Amino acid sequence: MNDLILRTARGEKTERTPVWLMRQAGRILPEYRAVRSSVSGFVELCQTPELACEVTIQPVDLLGVDAAIIFSDILVIPEAMGLPYEMVEKRGPFFPNTVQTEKDLDKIRVADVQSDLGYVLDAIKLTKKELNDRVPLIGFAGAPFTIFCYMIEGQGSKTFSKAKKMFYTQPEFSHKLLQMITDSTIAYLKAQIEAGADMIQIFDSWAGILSPEQYDIFAMPYINQICDSITEVPKTVFAKGAYFAREAIGKSNCNTVGLDWNMDVAESRKLVNGKVLQGNLDPCALYGSDKDVEKATIKMLDTFGPDHHIANLGHGVYPDIDPEKVKVFINTVKEYSAKMRG
Ligand code: CP3
Repeated sequence: MNDLILRTARGEKTERTPVWLMRQAGRILPEYRAVRSSVSGFVELCQTPELACEVTIQPVDLLGVDAAIIFSDILVIPEAMGLPYEMVEKRGPFFPNTVQTEKDLDKIRVADVQSDLGYVLDAIKLTKKELNDRVPLIGFAGAPFTIFCYMIEGQGSKTFSKAKKMFYTQPEFSHKLLQMITDSTIAYLKAQIEAGADMIQIFDSWAGILSPEQYDIFAMPYINQICDSITEVPKTVFAKGAYFAREAIGKSNCNTVGLDWNMDVAESRKLVNGKVLQGNLDPCALYGSDKDVEKATIKMLDTFGPDHHIANLGHGVYPDIDPEKVKVFINTVKEYSAKMRG
């Protein structure tokens, strides 16, 4: 088994730096779009374990990444709590119903993972079997604050100001909903691990819109609950834009701290208390020529140094990136990081 990423996440020295990409399943691969167009929509693809398994493994075969990430979405949690969603072409997620008041909490529930999310667990079991230990499988969930954003707003937003407004106007309601999301997420991640996930990542995609004080009150305590509850496998916390939270995440019970491309690596090393770092190439760097991608990748590897680093982009790969450039990124990490060990 290629278990480089697991050994690195546990803090061990390895023969080279492991590499994978956030959002590697889907988006950029024509082979994904072929599978995607064979079904009615994104939600059906997520809910069909055979197909979810197929598109999970595509980047392992086609790109050569050191880990697979299960094909699903962070939005399956609000759905399992009672808010179904649609994925609208070119617009993104849309929830016909949202939560706005304390009374609305009676209409939703803490997810019953086995009955509401059994399809993800089946996809994980099947994928583990098909991967046959070639690379580890990453399970994931959204962080409670990011999920809260979608449950309040019902769709994407530049500011998520309706969600943030709740923290100023209805803090008690906000904490109740965040706790329900957290309870659902802990049960969900535990079930993913039981089904075979070898490590997990928590995506706090909208973390950067909160003030540091709000992050301490409405985000970090729930991430801590999750990290304290999951003891079975290595955990990564990626809080996009939350440069101010690195120290708190460094003190949490996670193994790896995800960095976006705005976060300085040397400064992050000091803040995170010896934890492993993941990231952080600007996804736009992959628009450059092969030579430019190689140069940018080498520069990134030099700033992180050989140990305690999982190579990745600083956010998900963009849909219009040429898969060939992704391969240049991956192959450069593999070759250069082996050389860095002398
Ligand atoms: O990483 C992977 O490749 C595994 C699958 C995965 C998806 N979404 C599949 C997907 C993962 C890990 C996610 C996480 C996710 N989903 C996040 C956190 C990561 C991040 O990018 O910040 C967020 C915020 C979402 C919510 C979401 N899902 C949005 C806003 C959208 C629409 C815009 C977009 O990103 O494409 C989605 C749709 C989505 N999720 C697609 C895929 C492959 C595209 C839909 C399609 O194929 O029709």
